[in-house]
Amino acid sequence: MPLLEGKKALIFGIANHRSIGWAIAQSLAAEGAQLAFSYQERMEKYVRDLAAKLPGTEVMECDVQNDEQLDSAFVRASEIFNGELDILIHSVAYAPPRELENPFYDTTREGFHTTLDISTYSLIAMAKRAFPLMQARGGGSMLTMTYMASERVVPKYNAMAVAKAALECSVRFLAYELGEHNIRVNAISAGPLNTLAARGVSGLTQFREHMNVAAPLRRNIDQSEVGDAALFLCSHLARAITGEIMFVDAGYNIMGFGDTK
Ligand SMILES: NC(=O)c1ccc[n+]([C@@H]2O[C@H](COP(=O)([O-])OP(=O)(O)OC[C@H]3O[C@@H](n4cnc5c(N)ncnc54)[C@H](O)[C@@H]3O)[C@@H](O)[C@H]2O)c1
Repeated sequence: MPLLEGKKALIFGIANHRSIGWAIAQSLAAEGAQLAFSYQERMEKYVRDLAAKLPGTEVMECDVQNDEQLDSAFVRASEIFNGELDILIHSVAYAPPRELENPFYDTTREGFHTTLDISTYSLIAMAKRAFPLMQARGGGSMLTMTYMASERVVPKYNAMAVAKAALECSVRFLAYELGEHNIRVNAISAGPLNTLAARGVSGLTQFREHMNVAAPLRRNIDQSEVGDAALFLCSHLARAITGEIMFVDAGYNIMGFGDTK
């Protein structure tokens, strides 16, 4: 039987065919999950076109900064999935461009708020709304996307790095509180991928080239490898794993000083 036969999954954060969220959608669908996508208004056309490639996938609009739109998205998901949800994918992040260009010490109050609101608070806001739908199923799995800059300085990641540190901390608190309801909460820390969001951070191309020599696997990762790791974490194979930050980065994070060849 497919790993996710009969499972219901709601995915936030698909913008186009390069999105990590789209790779996750494909991995989950390949193992039998029924999907719904939530999109940001300006991405509607791309998301509808992608959803059409996975028969039965529903779509709904939601700006994660707007509580009413979050409420509506979860009401709609509840209608689609008969009041039940097994899997929530949070693959959403944004920082105003200036916050990724200027020095970190020049971070603005407004830019800091926006970055943490969209990239971090939105997970908490979604978890609260997904909770009753997962309780109706006797449990579930929530998954978010983070990045190593939460722990180590990656120049220019700036406020987004702070957002990722807060996101990882939020994963642990949510995992603790929801664990008694058999709801697991985890994060994948992905290596650098060429997506819309990543293009906002300067040096992405050089970093991807650096992976070819510095990562233990001597290569980059691709979106499908994150999708498959997400499939694992959302399936019963990972039923004892929660509060975890799992690296999918060809091993880059274990290195101190890399090969000088
Ligand atoms: N690409 C990488 O190198 C990389 C590495 C590690 C982690 N990540 C993380 O993966 C996640 C997905 O990013 P991606 O790389 O696939 O890029 P992406 O641009 O395809 O996805 C980001 C998504 O966030 C959505 N979003 C932004 N603001 C929103 C808002 N106000 N309301 C609703 N949605 C909003 C966008 O519409 C988009 O769908 C992000 O959390 C990102 O930080 C990316």
